[in-house]
Amino acid sequence: LFSGRVEFLLSAPQLKFLPAGDFPEVAFCGRSNVGKSSLLNALTGRRAIARTSVTPGRTQELNFFEVGEPTQFRLVDMPGYGFAKAPVKVVEKWRALVRTFLKGRAVLKRTLVLVDSRHGLKDVDREMMKMLDETAVGYRVVLTKADKIKASELEAVAQAVSEEMRRHPAAHPQLHLTSSEKGLGLDELRAAVLADVRS
Ligand code: GTP
Ligand code: MG
Repeated sequence: LFSGRVEFLLSAPQLKFLPAGDFPEVAFCGRSNVGKSSLLNALTGRRAIARTSVTPGRTQELNFFEVGEPTQFRLVDMPGYGFAKAPVKVVEKWRALVRTFLKGRAVLKRTLVLVDSRHGLKDVDREMMKMLDETAVGYRVVLTKADKIKASELEAVAQAVSEEMRRHPAAHPQLHLTSSEKGLGLDELRAAVLADVRS
């Protein structure tokens, strides 16, 4: 399915521009620059269907991508959180957009919470997980950029993150280790996402 049709649908800067909720959705969230857009590209085998950047704050709207012919589900690329350099007003706007979407979107089947392998969980991630624990939608924690650190360090971070996930009721127990750059963990994540949208 991921290797078939994938198409950009629309970009919603505000909630009133959301598409009708007529397909199951999976959302990508996480700190700015963690690799959300890159992971969406890697999972779908597209080089740049979602725009990426070395500069944090690249994605500023909710971007919807359709998968399948006919459409089976949608992937939603979201603005990052915890980006200190953006103006306070802008950060507040993204935050409200992301939160309202994650809390109220009826067709949302799963949220992917992306965490940089090099940094592990930060307080903003914990806050996001706590917020998600209160919604009906379960989430998967995905470590990104695994190619950037040594295997031993990756293991230690994965251990610590897994440990903490146990205290979050809505976190799926399986932690995903990925590298969009090297293709690590993508097959497993694709299978998991497919199971989620079909559930
Ligand atoms: P915002 O939209 O700004 O919140 O960022 P984002 O989370 O969408 O991150 P994006 O995908 O734009 O990637 C940020 C930077 O990290 C880019 O320079 C990517 O090339 C790099 N990057 C993403 N994934 C990986 C990875 O798996 N390995 C390596 N080495 N670099 C990665
Ligand atoms: Mg992005």
